[in-house]
Amino acid sequence: MYPSSRQQLRQSLRQQRRNLTPQQQAQHAKAIRNHFCLHRNLQQAKHIGIYLAQAGEADLSRLIRYLWRKQRHCYLPCLHSIKPRQLLFVAYTPQTPLVANRLGILEPRNKRPISLKQLDIILMPLVAFDAYGNRLGMGGGFYDYTLAAYKHRFNRQAPKLIGVAHSFQQVSHLTAQRWDVGLNAILTEQRIITRNSHGY
Ligand SMILES: Nc1ncnc2c1ncn2[C@@H]1O[C@H](COP(=O)(O)OP(=O)(O)OP(=O)(O)O)[C@@H](O)[C@H]1O
Ligand SMILES: [Mg+2]
Repeated sequence: MYPSSRQQLRQSLRQQRRNLTPQQQAQHAKAIRNHFCLHRNLQQAKHIGIYLAQAGEADLSRLIRYLWRKQRHCYLPCLHSIKPRQLLFVAYTPQTPLVANRLGILEPRNKRPISLKQLDIILMPLVAFDAYGNRLGMGGGFYDYTLAAYKHRFNRQAPKLIGVAHSFQQVSHLTAQRWDVGLNAILTEQRIITRNSHGY
């Protein structure tokens, strides 16, 4: 896919995401939480990288409340104060004070990160995905930079990467760029799409 069509795809899908009604968003949030709860591998995750939805991204707030009730540990991405596109994952509990970062996204005020190796899974937002686990994000390359060391998964401790999306964000095929880090699975309001039959 040429850069211009990647940009066009981003624009049109971001608009569709923003056009969802609050009712549709709430319905998707509930369905996504239910799929997560019923999936054996996801259920077992103890340390979970997660995100706070913005601009129509699939909303995980219900799932976060469920995970807190089940004593799971959630971590939010924060911008690194020096390295421009690096994300740090910082513990997120109901008591965590949040502040808006330079992109206007809320993140924990106290940036004491955990090592990525300690995360079992990372749930990440996306703009488009395909059935092969290719991900198109907002275009900042934040997740690609942050996860570059795990691109080839030689490291068995690597967290499983789970894209979260509305089902209309699926496209037939995305061409992965050399830096793109692929997903193990995609969670939508309709189903969980995995790249093999074993669950991830
Ligand atoms: N590991 C890397 N090495 C070199 N360049 C990278 C790397 N990761 C990302 N980039 C750069 O980041 C830019 C944006 O990447 P890309 O278009 O894949 O963003 P994205 O995955 O859609 O965004 P995001 O993850 O922030 O939602 C690319 O143009 C590329 O130059
Ligand atoms: Mg990318």
